[in-house]
Order: sequence, then structure tokens, then C-alpha cells
Amino acid sequence: MPYLFCLLTLATLFISPLKAADKIELPPLHHLVGIKPSDAIKVPDKFKLGDEGELICATCHGLKDIDKTEVDKVDTTAADFLVGGHYRNLTGLCYQCHDEKKTQRENIHILLDEQGEIKKKQCTYCHEEVPDRDKKLSVAELKLRLPMQSLCYGCHLKDPHFNAVEHQVKPAQKEMLERIKKHSSELGILVPLSDKQEVICVSCHTPHQYGVIDPEKPAGKQVINDDLAEGVTYKAHPWDQVFTADKADRLAEFNQQHKMNVEFSYQRIVQEALLRLPAKDGQLCLVCHDSKD
Ligand code: HEC
Ligand code: HEC
Ligand code: HEC
Ligand code: HEC
Ligand code: HEC
Ligand code: HEC
Repeated sequence: MPYLFCLLTLATLFISPLKAADKIELPPLHHLVGIKPSDAIKVPDKFKLGDEGELICATCHGLKDIDKTEVDKVDTTAADFLVGGHYRNLTGLCYQCHDEKKTQRENIHILLDEQGEIKKKQCTYCHEEVPDRDKKLSVAELKLRLPMQSLCYGCHLKDPHFNAVEHQVKPAQKEMLERIKKHSSELGILVPLSDKQEVICVSCHTPHQYGVIDPEKPAGKQVINDDLAEGVTYKAHPWDQVFTADKADRLAEFNQQHKMNVEFSYQRIVQEALLRLPAKDGQLCLVCHDSKD
């Protein structure tokens, strides 16, 4: 969520002096406190405000006495660290008060209008010219603005989700490359790799809304999604805790290796978007992975 980064960076510019308790040190890039919400912000009842209607620690944190605890001693994994529990994306918390519509970027992958016609201008985010969909085009003829392996980075992060970073490599085993070739031709899908045979974003994702490319063509074969504006949707899953515990060790190792701090929460995917094959039942994974690995 690059947008969140912008917001958090912005937030540092707005950190206001604390009113009630000016000794507390807030973590860097923290949200501002001590301010009364303007008309632009609607604060739901579950977020308690201070006596003067201002943002206080307890507005967003359930942890008792968080303001009297040293920053590095605060248990950020506690269920009530944030009011409302763990959010899959932190933006889920932000949008409870901030207007999601106003802050959201237009989803440029919505390439068809209400009549099903292509929005030509949108094609040029990625192609220098609108490609002719009736012709068979070579990669050079697609006139992509950037090489395929970096095309998505202007708008997305290199690590948009769990496991994405580890995937952007050349398969360690030759067998995997052979499997990709064999399975993609059998299944009639496109699985592009970089010039160096690395897995890239578009190996798993298609950039186009369903129907832009003829679904009979490999490039057009993809998961159908009737509501791309809604994006990927998830539903809390009762097994979340089990899965999270199961992944904890691998995740800790991963975080150490990549100097990152990824949190993972298993939630059932309800609607998938922009994928070449469904992932929720493993079909996509098995294009490259052996069912035995
Ligand atoms: C409990 C409600 C609440 C939540 C949750 C919340 N905010 Fe805010 N935020 C506010 C209020 C109130 C202001 C003060 C500005 C105003 O009132 O218009 C503010 C201001 C900001 C500002 C300063 C820029 C501006 O519009 O003045 C940024 C940036 C910001 N919030 C980002 C975030 C992010 C990122 C999250 C999620 C991590 C978040 N907020 C969650 C209530 C909230
Ligand atoms: C508008 C919501 C909001 C308010 C008000 C708020 N916080 Fe936070 N705070 C957050 C969010 C969101 C995070 C998590 C940021 C993240 O994970 O990147 C956070 C993180 C923290 C952390 C953990 C930092 C870390 O990464 O280890 C501490 C400590 C903290 N807040 C203290 C406070 C204190 C003390 C107050 C009151 C003075 C306060 N917060 C008020 C939203 C808020
Ligand atoms: C977000 C970037 C992006 C946007 C926006 C985009 N494309 Fe593409 N397009 C690509 C990439 C990457 C490829 C090569 C990989 C693939 O086909 O999936 C491609 C391939 C194609 C192809 C070749 C398909 C084939 O059969 O091999 C056509 C035709 C095409 N795009 C047309 C369009 C049209 C028309 C639009 C606007 C309605 C559009 N694209 C918008 C990135 C984009
Ligand atoms: C010009 C900016 C831009 C480019 C380039 C771009 N995206 Fe996106 N993408 C967006 C926006 C905006 C959204 C809507 C959600 C959001 O704000 O993250 C989105 C959403 C997505 C989603 C989530 C599905 C959904 O409907 O919410 C996927 C998957 C995705 N993009 C993949 C890609 C891939 C793969 C590429 C590279 C071929 C790419 N994007 C290039 C802007 C872009
Ligand atoms: C386009 C091919 C491709 C697809 C599709 C794919 N993977 Fe991978 N996966 C790889 C490559 C390449 C690696 C790097 C390790 C290697 O070369 O064996 C990898 C590594 C992994 C790892 C090990 C990561 C680590 O901890 O080091 C896991 C777990 C994994 N994939 C799971 C999945 C799952 C789950 C799916 C389906 C959602 C999936 N993969 C889809 C190619 C793919
Ligand atoms: C190995 C396959 C694979 C690779 C590589 C991969 N993704 Fe994903 N991506 C997925 C799966 C699976 C999902 C889950 C959502 C779904 O099923 O539609 C997903 C979800 C997303 C989402 C939506 C997240 C959300 O919660 O709304 C975005 C955005 C996205 N990917 C962008 C990218 C970008 C950008 C890259 C390259 C930097 C990339 N992905 C690389 C498989 C992959």
C-alpha cells in the first residue's frame, strides 16, 4: 500500500504537540494526537475521544496505560493494541475515520467502461500506444513504457504482500522452468518471466481487467471478477490463529533474512482479482510448484 506510506510520511509533518501528557515520546511516523476532529472526519462511536473531544491514546489503542509505557516495551501484538483488533491492512483502521473514497487512488486496472468499451487513455499508463487487440503482437510491439519486470513498481511496492519478494527470483531448479512451460501451454495461460527468467508480478497477475484481451487467448485467460473496484476481498477465518501460529517460525526467519516486519494473517479469500488462475485452491501455485514440494 504505497498510499499508506504517503499518509504516514505526511503524518510526520502534522505531529502536533501533546496537550495532556507532554512527556510521552511517540514512535516516529506516529499519528497525531490531541487534536479535535474537523468536519472532514467522522469518528465512529467505538473510538473514544478525550474530555474535550480530542484524539487521545485510548481513541485508537485498547492497551491500558500505553502513554505511560516506554515505546519499545509496548506489546504491539496484543489483541487490543489497536481498537477493533488486528487489521489485515492498517488502512482498514484509517478508513474508519478518514473518507476512503477521497483518499483512494483510482484503480487504473478498470479498463472497460459501462458499455464494455476500452478506456483508451488508461492503456497508455503502461503502453506507449493503444495496442491493436486483433493482431498478434510481439513483446516489442506492445511498446511497454518500462521493461515488464519493473512496470508495476511506479505504483506498487516491490513487496505488496506476503511472499511477493521471495518470488521475484529465477527458479532455483531447472525442473521448475520446465514445469512452467509445460503447464502454461497445457492450461492455455500466459506466464511471462523476465529476460533473466525471473518470476515477476505479471507471472501471476494479469494487468488487464477480464475481457480486455480475448479470453480465448492465453493472455486473456484469467480469473473472472465482476467487481474490480471492490478489489480482492477477504473474510475473517476461524482458523486464523492456527495458521498464524503455524507460519510464525517461517515468518520470523523470513523477516530476519529480509530485514522486514511482515505480519501475516490467514483470511479466506472471497473474491480474487487480476490473477491468471485462482490461487485460493492452489491452481496458480501448481503451475510452478510440484504438488510434492
Ligand atoms: C479515530 C479516528 C482516526 C483514525 C482511526 C485515524 N485517523 Fe488520521 N486523523 C484523525 C483526525 C481527527 C485527524 C485530524 C485532522 C482532521 O480532523 O481533519 C487526522 C489526521 C490525519 C493526517 C494529517 C493530515 C490531515 O488530513 O490533516 C494524516 C496523514 C492521517 N490522519 C493519517 C491516518 C492514517 C494513515 C491512519 C491509519 C493508520 C489514520 N489516520 C487513522 C482521525 C483518525
Ligand atoms: C488515530 C489513531 C491513534 C492515536 C490517537 C494514537 N495512536 Fe499510537 N498507533 C496508531 C497506529 C495505527 C499504530 C501502528 C503503526 C504501525 O503499525 O505502523 C500506532 C502505534 C503506536 C505504538 C507502537 C509503535 C511501534 O511500532 O512499536 C505506540 C507505543 C503508540 N502507538 C503509542 C501511542 C500513544 C502513547 C498515544 C497517545 C499519546 C497514541 N499512540 C495515540 C494509532 C494511534
Ligand atoms: C498496468 C499496465 C497495463 C495496462 C494499463 C494495459 N496493459 Fe496491455 N499489457 C501489459 C503487459 C505487461 C502486457 C504483457 C503481458 C500480458 O499480456 O499479460 C500487455 C499485453 C497486452 C496485449 C497483448 C496480449 C496478447 O495476446 O499477448 C494487448 C493486446 C494489450 N496489452 C492491450 C491493452 C489495452 C487495449 C489496454 C487498455 C484498455 C491495456 N493493454 C492496458 C500491461 C498493461
Ligand atoms: C499507474 C499506476 C499503476 C500501475 C502502473 C499498476 N497498478 Fe496495479 N493498481 C493501481 C491502483 C490505483 C490499484 C487500486 C488499489 C490500490 O490503490 O492499490 C491497483 C490494484 C492492483 C491489484 C489489486 C486488484 C484490485 O482490483 O484492487 C493488483 C493485483 C495489481 N494492481 C497488479 C498490478 C500489476 C501486476 C501491475 C504491473 C503490470 C500493476 N498493477 C501496475 C495502480 C497501478
Ligand atoms: C510463476 C511461478 C510461481 C508461482 C505461480 C508460485 N510460485 Fe512459489 N515460488 C516460485 C519460485 C521461483 C520460488 C523461489 C524458490 C525456488 O526457486 O524454488 C518460490 C518459492 C515459494 C515458497 C518458499 C518461499 C520461502 O519461504 O523461501 C513458498 C512457500 C511458495 N513459493 C508458495 C507458493 C504459493 C502458496 C503459491 C500460490 C499462491 C505460489 N508459490 C505460486 C515460483 C512460483
Ligand atoms: C507467486 C505469485 C504472485 C506474485 C509473483 C505476485 N503476486 Fe500479487 N498476489 C498474488 C496472490 C495469490 C494474491 C491474493 C489475492 C488474490 O487471490 O486475488 C495477490 C494479491 C495482490 C494484490 C492485492 C492485495 C490486496 O490485499 O488487495 C496486489 C496489489 C498485488 N498482488 C500486487 C502484486 C505486485 C505489484 C507484484 C510484483 C511486485 C505481485 N503482486 C507479485 C500472487 C502473486
